[in-house]
Formats: sequence, structure tokens, C-alpha cells
Amino acid sequence: MAVAARTDTRRSQEMFRRIATSIAGGESSYARLRSGIELCIERTAGARMWDVDGNEYLDYCLGYGPLLFGHHPEDIVAAVVEQITTRGYHFSFPHRLDYEVGERLQRMVPSMELLRFACSGTEATMAAMRLARGFTGKEKIVKFEGAYHGWSDLHYISAHPPVGAAAAGLHRAPRSVPDTAGIPRAIADTVIVQPFNDLEVLEQTLDRRGFEIAAVLIEPALANCGIIPPLPGYLEGVRRLTEAHGVLLIFDEVMTGFRLAPGGAQEHFRIRPDLSTFAKVLGGGFPVAAFGGRGDVMELEATGEVMHGGTYTASPLVLAAARAVLDRIERDRDTMYPELNRLTQRLQDGLLRVVRDAGYPSLVQGVGPFFQLFFLDRPRERLIDYRDAMGHSRRDVYAAFHEAMQQRGIYFHPGQSERWFLSTAHTDADIDQTLAAAAEAIQEVARRLPPRSTAE
Ligand SMILES: Cc1ncc(COP(=O)(O)O)c(C=O)c1O
Repeated sequence: MAVAARTDTRRSQEMFRRIATSIAGGESSYARLRSGIELCIERTAGARMWDVDGNEYLDYCLGYGPLLFGHHPEDIVAAVVEQITTRGYHFSFPHRLDYEVGERLQRMVPSMELLRFACSGTEATMAAMRLARGFTGKEKIVKFEGAYHGWSDLHYISAHPPVGAAAAGLHRAPRSVPDTAGIPRAIADTVIVQPFNDLEVLEQTLDRRGFEIAAVLIEPALANCGIIPPLPGYLEGVRRLTEAHGVLLIFDEVMTGFRLAPGGAQEHFRIRPDLSTFAKVLGGGFPVAAFGGRGDVMELEATGEVMHGGTYTASPLVLAAARAVLDRIERDRDTMYPELNRLTQRLQDGLLRVVRDAGYPSLVQGVGPFFQLFFLDRPRERLIDYRDAMGHSRRDVYAAFHEAMQQRGIYFHPGQSERWFLSTAHTDADIDQTLAAAAEAIQEVARRLPPRSTAE
């Protein structure tokens, strides 16, 4: 299969420089681009995007995950256009889509006895944390090292801490490390950081400090340090321990929701959390989120005892998109998930073969239609937590592979801490194209960073 010619991105570079004269850092989020190979996008369709130089890319970043059906599929566009051209896009009043989307969510995610809408995953997770504190009367929240729940002071803590044990405490007792300047120490101290996939440590923490812990907030599969799936029995253990200690269990399903299954990770792993948060796939690219769960907890929102609000929450613009997304999932659930998983498996297996054939110790970890390819210091069977993933992966090789793939028209996020997403718009031919590009790209990487240098 022919591989796309290497790309010329001069216009992107020029445009990016111009953007950076008005937008601090050239982008309005913190980690989108890689310096020196920034892309500015002109248009997108399905599984593809085109930059301002006219280069075409197969897209495995998909707007950081929301685009489970690819870029602007017709049914979502039609639903949104119909809503905004015939009825309007901003009410700040109750409307029909409230219950249409609300009832679909209750059906698909039965743990959400009651729910509310928000505008982003960050907000939904903040709201769930406040609710847990309001309900239990306790102040501390347990989160896991390497888990990302958003950028607020409340939880942008130990999401990407420096890997050295000295900087982040002992493995079994990580310290809570603010990930940015500007977070008060007093707020960081409200968060207790734990290693993922270690039930023994969590049990000790809950035994000693359960009296002050409102909730355990967890990504059911860590998806922000590559992908770290839960070990067998781990989530069941977390559920059992939280119940035993009167601590609420919050599933942050911003990444996993509607991606692993119609009912998210809680359906996939068969665990019923007390509260959950959703965003990304829910809006199919429109900014909508939801949080919800046990009726007795959510009742605090109903009575106003715990406050949550926002000018744009539940806007008909985004709920029209959410309804279209959920309709498609309900209609196609029996065929779309097996097909997404099959394509993802093909891509994962193919990438691993290409990379290992070139002599690189490597590993693919994923759940359902998203995964990460890790270049490793030496062969390993699995990576089970943040320090494992960051401590043993070769980020320099990953970055070189990313760059060589981007130059061949295959786009995925440049960071080893991120991941590849697939959509229903991807096809077998796309996988073939990707693997052909990978076979070529890895040879280029091998000239710059030969595999021998990866051995210990
Ligand atoms: C697991 C998880 N929770 C929360 C968030 C924050 O969502 P948002 O970017 O919509 O604020 C993210 C974002 O990537 C995420 O991956």
C-alpha cells in the first residue's frame, strides 16, 4: 500500500506563529500540540482532517475522544441544525430535551437515578466532589496518581507529577502534588493520592482515614498516563472497601462513558458506583457533560442544599447533539461496539508487530476502542500504575514515532501519556494505511534512535 508523501506544514507554522501573538502559548488548552510540528486545521470529515497546507491526516485523536462517530456525522449535524434554526439554542429554562436526554441516560446508565447536566468533564467532576462532601459531611477525596479529572484546583493534583520518588513521595504513599502553580497547598491537602491497582494500600488508607474521606474518585481505567486497565478484581475491591467504610465511590467516566459500552465502564466491568461523571462522547463533539447517581445523594441538588449551576448548563444546542449521539448508540449498540473493538484489535496487533519487528520492546494496553502503544526500556508484560507507565516508557522514541507518522498523514496525540481513539468512521482500509505508514515510520525512528539504545 502506498504511503502518503511527507508533509509540508509551512502554512501551519506561519498561522501558529500568528495565533501566538494574541493567544497565550498559541492554544487555549495546555497540552494539544508539540512544539515545532504544530498543525492548524482547515476542515475535517469522518475519520480525516486536513491542515491549512492541504495535507490529509487519518485522525486517531478525534478531538480528544468525543468523536465516537467521527467528525461531524450527518445525524448529529442535522439534529443540531434543526434545533437551532427552528427552536433556538439558548433558553436557560427547562425544555423537552432535558427529559429526552435525561431519560435516555437513566436507561443506559442505571446507577444514574438522578442526574444533572454541566458543560465539561472538569465541571461535572467538581460537582460530584462537592456533592460527596455535602452528603457525607467529610472533606477529603481519594484520587489516584496519574489520573486526570480536569484542570481545577480541586483535582489537578498528582495527575502528572514528576516521576522521581523524591518528588512525589514513596510508591505506596504518594504525596499530593499540585500539577500547576497557583493551587493553594490547603486545597491540595484535601486530596489523598493513592497508587492505582493497589487494593492493599487503599484498604490501609480507608482503615486509618475513612472517618475523614468523603469519596474515592477513580477513572475505572486510567486513561491519562497511556491506558492502564484495572487488574482483575481491583474495581470490585474498591467498591467493597468504599461501601464498608461509608465512603462514596465516584466513577469518572469522562473517557470511558459510552465508549466501552452504552453504559460505560460500569456496564463493562459490572460495578455500580454511587456517582458518575460523563462528558466527551456524550456530546459527540459538543460541550456537554453530566453527573449523577444515587437518588439520596442527588437529592441534595434537588433541595439546593448543594449548589450547582451555570448559564450554559443543559443548553438545547448541546442536548440536541447528545440526544442524537444516544439515539445512535441505542440503535446500533449490538453492532457498533463489536466492530469498533475488532478494528481496534487489528490496529493494536498490527502496530505492535511493526514496532517489535523493528526491535523495540513495546506494549499495547487498552480497553475497548482506545489504547496506547508504549515504547519500553525493556520487555514487560504489563504496566499497572502511573509510575510503571512513566518510569519504563521511552517518551523520546514515542515522540519520534509520532513525528514520523504525522509526516506520513497519520495523526495521533504526540504524548506518551495520551492514547489513540477509534471511531465508527474508521475502516479496514484506514487500518491498512496506518500500518503501512507505521512500517515506514519505524525505520526512520530506528535511524534516529536505534532499538539497541532502548535495552537496559
Ligand atoms: C477522565 C477525565 N476526566 C475529566 C476530564 C476533563 O474533561 P474536560 O476536558 O471536558 O473538562 C478529562 C479530560 O480529558 C478526562 O480524561
